[in-house]
Amino acid sequence: ARIRHYKWEIKYEYRSPDCYKKLVITINGRTPGPTIFAQQNDTVIVEVKNNLLTENTAIHWHGIRQIGTPWFDGTEGVTQCPVLPGDTFVYKFVVDRPGTYLYHAHYGMQREAGLYGSIRVALPDGKSEPFAYDYDRSIILNDWYHKSTYEQAAGLSSIDFQWVGDPQSLLIHGKGRLNCSTAKSPLKADVCNNTNPECSLYSMTVVPGKTYRLRISSLTALSALSFQIEGHNMTVVEADGHYVEPFVVKNLFIYSGETYSVLVKTDQDPSRNYWATTNVVSRNSTTPPGLAIFNYYPNHPRRSPPTFPPSGPLWNDVDSRFNQSLDIKARKGHIHSPPATSDRVIVLLNTQNMVNGTRRWSVNDVSFNLPHTPYLIALKENLLHTFSQTPPPEGYDFANYNISVEQDSNGTTSDAIYRLQFNSTVDIILQNANSMVTNVSETHPWHLHGHDFWVLGYGRGKFDRINDPKKYNLVDPIMKNTVPVHPYGWTALRFKADNPGVWAFHCHIESHFFMGMRVTFEEGIERVGKLPSSIMGCGETKHFRKP
Ligand code: C2O
Ligand code: CU
Repeated sequence: ARIRHYKWEIKYEYRSPDCYKKLVITINGRTPGPTIFAQQNDTVIVEVKNNLLTENTAIHWHGIRQIGTPWFDGTEGVTQCPVLPGDTFVYKFVVDRPGTYLYHAHYGMQREAGLYGSIRVALPDGKSEPFAYDYDRSIILNDWYHKSTYEQAAGLSSIDFQWVGDPQSLLIHGKGRLNCSTAKSPLKADVCNNTNPECSLYSMTVVPGKTYRLRISSLTALSALSFQIEGHNMTVVEADGHYVEPFVVKNLFIYSGETYSVLVKTDQDPSRNYWATTNVVSRNSTTPPGLAIFNYYPNHPRRSPPTFPPSGPLWNDVDSRFNQSLDIKARKGHIHSPPATSDRVIVLLNTQNMVNGTRRWSVNDVSFNLPHTPYLIALKENLLHTFSQTPPPEGYDFANYNISVEQDSNGTTSDAIYRLQFNSTVDIILQNANSMVTNVSETHPWHLHGHDFWVLGYGRGKFDRINDPKKYNLVDPIMKNTVPVHPYGWTALRFKADNPGVWAFHCHIESHFFMGMRVTFEEGIERVGKLPSSIMGCGETKHFRKP
């Protein structure tokens, strides 16, 4: 195994990813940031210099379990103090599984300012994947707002609630193209300029007659997406770093925080280019589709395909999305069987609540607040007075709560965490419900830090604690780190609490996360090694920081 050393400088710069000029966060001048390439069991070292001038940061390695290094998970407030402007923080961790992963800011709503990228972990030399391909490419999908994260965060947390609204565009690999002249209020050329070469569409050049592995990931702030390549089917072979029993799709549904590998054959008419597009699903969105060019060599990479871009599925076609979720199974010969039973079942009802006049997202009517002292340090150093010791609820009022219509919306906040028995098996039931808006139930992609979980099942309506577990897939469930809970539905997960540390579990929608849609798990804190002093310095940990 080797050491992969990266030096990053992060800062704000003016950029026009969709032709609209705004401040974005770059890594070494780029957004998306540089891809981290490594092989299984390599050690990755990233030296992050925070040159944001007036803003803290922290970077999370999404999908990397951080076994033995829970302090380098990069979750501000949970595993570390924020990195101050001017400071350099060194992350050092082992990538122990091959696959496709991500990294992104984990501080406030900073991720959507552009601080994100992908991690590609290859098999060790001499080992090969259970599928064949000629070329390997990555594409990150995103949505894009023109307001700053500060305007959004302030609007979301004020009594005079200001929802962030629909994103202005969808980006494919950091590029999009807003039509400056049809935008709502006419935009001046110094702000929006369609001839700026910076916002030419992303073009992926392919050679005819080959098989491509496309690693497609989503880090949208809000949107659930459908991704498609005109005239080409995609065979899904990997999800969140696990091999999938291959299945074919025309539209790949992908939720924020998920990664997939698909195989695409370049077997169409080679005399032209094709569209690759993204569409918002699950919301009746005003955001125009994202466009990119699937460029058959030797056609010019910027030549527009002669056709209209394909439109995606209907935004409210929930069945198709449910069905794709159900189609994702572990690949034969690569099945990791889950434990047959669990030791504890925690039901997390996804609710929207009013708390002290502000609108919040919650689980079981409790919206999450971060304490001043990061949990990992508080628990390890026995500073238990720094957060509430009243355990959060394990469920909701099953008998009386009607998930199909709006309910009494009053909720509370808490910074309490779930403490799990080390090595126990835990089931999580994510239960969706109607939001505070009539006839609306959203899609929430939930992401677990520090673990992969088995996806035991998806269902519609209210989870039945007697009968639904009988239908769990214990034969070939996929393991993932991010999973959607569909509108008015439920999703059941199982994981082993075998990674000593403190781990976030949250909705990956940036505004939902910011509005409190998150919980925290602790397990095996007594097994956590000596904490590095570089993670200290905030809350009650000031005096632990060595000069
Ligand atoms: Cu990719 Cu805690 O998130
Ligand atoms: Cu959500």
